[in-house]
Amino acid sequence: MRISVIGCGYLGAVHAASMASLGHDVVGIDVDPDKIARLAAGTAPFYEPGLPELLAEVSGTGRLTFSTDMADAAGAQIHFLCVGTPQKHGEFRADLSYVESAFEDLRPHLAAGDVVAGKSTVPVGTAEDLAARLTGTGASLAWNPEFLREGFAVQDTLHPDRLVYGLPTDDEGVPTAEGDAARALLDEVYATPLSEGTPLVVTDYATAQLVKVAANSFLATKISFINAMAELCEATGADVTRLADAIGYDARIGRRFLNAGLGFGGGCLPKDIRAFMARAGELGVDQALSFLREVDAINMRRRVRMVDLAREVSAGSIVGKRVTVLGAAFKPDSDDVRDSPALSVAAQMQLQGAHVTVTDPQAVENARAKWPDLKYAATALEAAQGADVVVLATEWAEYRDLDPDALGGVVAHRAIVDGRNVLDPKAWRAAGWTYRALGRP
Ligand code: UGA
Repeated sequence: MRISVIGCGYLGAVHAASMASLGHDVVGIDVDPDKIARLAAGTAPFYEPGLPELLAEVSGTGRLTFSTDMADAAGAQIHFLCVGTPQKHGEFRADLSYVESAFEDLRPHLAAGDVVAGKSTVPVGTAEDLAARLTGTGASLAWNPEFLREGFAVQDTLHPDRLVYGLPTDDEGVPTAEGDAARALLDEVYATPLSEGTPLVVTDYATAQLVKVAANSFLATKISFINAMAELCEATGADVTRLADAIGYDARIGRRFLNAGLGFGGGCLPKDIRAFMARAGELGVDQALSFLREVDAINMRRRVRMVDLAREVSAGSIVGKRVTVLGAAFKPDSDDVRDSPALSVAAQMQLQGAHVTVTDPQAVENARAKWPDLKYAATALEAAQGADVVVLATEWAEYRDLDPDALGGVVAHRAIVDGRNVLDPKAWRAAGWTYRALGRP
């Protein structure tokens, strides 16, 4: 099938390459000429494990092209909208300007029978609005939310947990003839994952849009729940990692996404829960989501607590102290620094008078662009030279595996704050380190 993918960021670039690898003819479109040039040359414009290999695999087939010209979307039967919906400056709401401009640019190039499939995370009601604006074009709209995780984006796209189609429905919630046609196209796009037994939920627009924000809100709540327990653990001398293990054995709870620490960041969870609260307010049901304020507050408190712990292990003050921050990305296996808890903590400590050096295996370039005043180093050992305190903020495998003695050999003081609860306290203490963590004695 001929497919266009509008927006080639973390979501769109992976979607475009994955669809081509499934055998479709794909054109990826983006307004950023630099990004398009790199993708056209077969290079991933950001760090995502597996994407370079996937681009290499499909580049020889001729099935994947890239363009900055929306006219090149013409001729595709299905157009995936994959542009970003960041938080609006100074507000909780989502900024829909990229969705708006992509949709308006695309509209003149649509032919009768085409389907526009929305993947961007949007406030509920957006799909209904876009669908109404297709009246008279003969094209229709489907909402097909995306659940990929950065770091596992290729795997999540090719082998998703589930597929969700939000289709035009009649008053009884049954897909219209247009809805059935859109479903047939989507089934063809996803023929391979569907044949592997991927569960499919076919529903209306509102439900499909809500599924996405509900999922991210649940995940954020799970993380903040365990981080609230970490606060209780800190007050009582209990160990939140053992607590998570113990409650996680209950299949109804599950151990995944119960890792206490510095909390969630990134381009999705923080802004999605805020946009969801804002939308609930507009719909007159803000009370339903008031708990998300607490989820957000717990999450932000972890960053403050992390700085407090660094101060505690630095004899009560970080002023003039050398602090090494291991990690800049919002999570391991990504170079994404959007709303990164690691960088937020690094910047806070710098503002409070510490001399901060940050290192990250992939995200230094992005971090430097955002926080040019921080000092950066290429490796942990380089970053930790003469450090008074080391802060582990992103749990990259190479930081989890650090040898306490090797790192101890370069620092000025053996003091470490484990912001992700991934180090073995016994081993670090045995090597003479003062070890502190969030929610652990
Ligand atoms: C998240 C969702 O997990 C995806 O399903 C969704 O598609 C995506 O947002 C999106 O909306 O596009 P992602 O932002 O890539 O994916 O990252 P996650 O793996 O969800 O991690 C988010 C944050 O939570 C990270 O900062 C991570 O360090 C933190 N986290 C995660 C914890 O603090 N504890 C945990 O147990 C798990």
